[in-house]
Amino acid sequence: MIDFENIVRLTDSEFEKFAKLVYNESGIFLKTTKLTLLSNRLRKRLNALNLKTFTEYYDYINSLADRSKEIESLIDVVSTNETYFFRNEKQFESLTGECFPEISKRKQTDKRLRIWSAGCSTGEEPYTIGICILEAGSLFQGWDIEIIATDIAYSVLDFAKKGEYSGRRIDKVKPELLKKYFLKSDSEQYTIKDEVKKIINFKLLNLFKDSYPVNIDIIFCRNVMIYFDKEHQKKLLSGFYRSIQNNGYLFLGHSETIHSISDDFTYRKIIDSPVYIPKDK
Ligand SMILES: C[S@@+](CC[C@H](N)C(=O)[O-])C[C@H]1O[C@@H](n2cnc3c(N)ncnc32)[C@H](O)[C@@H]1O
Repeated sequence: MIDFENIVRLTDSEFEKFAKLVYNESGIFLKTTKLTLLSNRLRKRLNALNLKTFTEYYDYINSLADRSKEIESLIDVVSTNETYFFRNEKQFESLTGECFPEISKRKQTDKRLRIWSAGCSTGEEPYTIGICILEAGSLFQGWDIEIIATDIAYSVLDFAKKGEYSGRRIDKVKPELLKKYFLKSDSEQYTIKDEVKKIINFKLLNLFKDSYPVNIDIIFCRNVMIYFDKEHQKKLLSGFYRSIQNNGYLFLGHSETIHSISDDFTYRKIIDSPVYIPKDK
C-alpha cells in the first residue's frame, strides 16, 4: 500500500519538467512559488495511477504512444477553477444595462446572439449570462441565441453540464432569481432549470491548440489570462479579435487588462467596469 500523503514534494528539477510540460500544453505558467501546489495536485494523478514518485509519473506520460488523454488528465488536475454565480456583478449590470439593448437595436434584422464564455470552469459564468438573457425578456424574443461555454478541463465541464450548485457558489444569486431559474432538491442543492441549460453549449476547448468559434457578439474571458505569460496573452487576444464581430464586447477579469498586450481593442467604461471593443476590422 502506497502512503500517498508522504510522497515528498517535487524536487526543483521535477517541478521544472512538469511546469514546462503544463506550459507547452496549456499556456498555464507556473512560477516556482507554486511548487507545493503543483505537488499536491499531481498527487491526485499518482494516486489514480498507483504510481510512487513524480518521476515515475513523468516517465509514464512520455512512455505513452498517445499522450493526449493523460495530458488532458494532467491539465485537469493542474488548472484552477474558482468561480461563482454573478462574479463581479457590475459586469452583468453593464451587460444587461448597455450591451444587450445596443445589440438588440443593432441586430433587428439578423436576430442572432452568440456569446462565448472562454474558460467557463464549472458553469456559473455561462449560466449567469443565460439568466441575464432570459431576464432581458422581450429584448431577445424570437432570437436565435447560443452561449458557447468552453474549458480545457473535462471534469469542470462534466460538473457544469449537471448544473447542480450549493453554498457559496450561489451566494450572490438574488432569492427571486434562485426561485425562478433553479429547482431545489431535498438537500441544499439547487439545479439550474432546462430553460437556461438549453441555450448553453459546453465544449472542451484548449485556447492554444483548438480553433475558436466565430461571429461572436460578446466574449467573456475572465480570470483566465492571469494564468498565462505575455506571449500567450497576446495570442489569446489576437484570437479573440478574429472571433469577435465588429461592435462586439470583450469582458476580462477584474485584475486583467489588455494594456501593453494588444492594440486591437479600445477601452470603454460601462457602469464602472471596463469593456473592450474591437477596433474596426
Ligand atoms: C479561475 S477559472 C475562471 C472561471 C470563470 N471564467 C470566472 O471568472 O469565474 C479559469 C478557467 O480557465 C481554464 N483554462 C486554463 N487554461 C486554459 C486553456 N489553455 N484553454 C482553455 N481553458 C483554460 C481553467 O481550466 C479554469 O476552469
